[in-house]
Amino acid sequence: MKRSKFLFSLAAIPLAAGLSPLSKSLNSLVNQNERSKNTMSKFELPPLPYSYDALEPYIDKMTMEIHHDKHHAAYVANFNKAIEGTAAEGKTIEEIFKNVSKYPIAVKNNGGGVYNHSMFWKVMKKNGGGAPTGALADAINSSFGSFDDFKTTFNNAATTRFGSGWAWLIVKDGKLAVISTANQDNPLMDNAETKGTPIFLMDVWEHAYYLKYQNRRPEYIANFWNVINWDEVNKNFASAK
Ligand SMILES: [Fe+2]
Repeated sequence: MKRSKFLFSLAAIPLAAGLSPLSKSLNSLVNQNERSKNTMSKFELPPLPYSYDALEPYIDKMTMEIHHDKHHAAYVANFNKAIEGTAAEGKTIEEIFKNVSKYPIAVKNNGGGVYNHSMFWKVMKKNGGGAPTGALADAINSSFGSFDDFKTTFNNAATTRFGSGWAWLIVKDGKLAVISTANQDNPLMDNAETKGTPIFLMDVWEHAYYLKYQNRRPEYIANFWNVINWDEVNKNFASAK
C-alpha cells in the first residue's frame, strides 16, 4: 500500500492567497514549522482510475461516487485514526495485516476497508469483461475446469456470503481458490479463515449495489462480469505466484 507524507494543513492555503509578499513568506515559515511538527505517515485515498460513470450501465455513477468518495474515504480516515500512536503506525498495510488480531478491531475493520477497495477499483475498467487470457486463463481452466465453471463457483461465493463481505480469487499454496470473507476481512489477515494472496475480488456490501439493484444482489453479480479488468487480474496473478 502506497504511503505518503502529510505535508501541510489545507487550511493554510486560502489564508496565504490575499497576503503581501512579506506576509506570504512569514506565513510560509509558520507553515514550515507546522510541517516539521505535524509530519507523519498517513494512508491516502487513491484516486478512482476512471470517471464515476465509466462502468455504466452495470455500476451506476452515483454508486461509484458515494462508494469511493464517502465509503472508501471514511475507511482511510478512520484507519489513520485507528493506527495513530500504536505499534501499527509506520508499517505497511500488509505488515499490519500479519498481526492484525493484536490491534484494536478498528484497525482490522478500517484497514480491510482501505486495502480491499483500493484493489477493487483496479480490477474493474470501462469496456471491461470478456474472458481472461494468458497464464491466468490456463490456471482458471486447470483449477476450475473452465471459465464458466469458475464463474459459477465465484458467483456462488458472492451470492451466499451472508450480510456484508467480499468474494475473492486467491493464490494459496501456488493454486487458485475461491473464498468469501465477512465485513472488511481479507485473506492477508493473520486471523483469516483461509489465508492466501488475493488477485481478484468483488464487493458484496449493499453500498456497492443498492442504489441501482436494491435487494437484487444476484443481478449485480451477473452484471459485474461486464466490467472486469482481466489485464490487472493477470498482473496480480503474476506477482502472487
Ligand atoms: Fe465497498
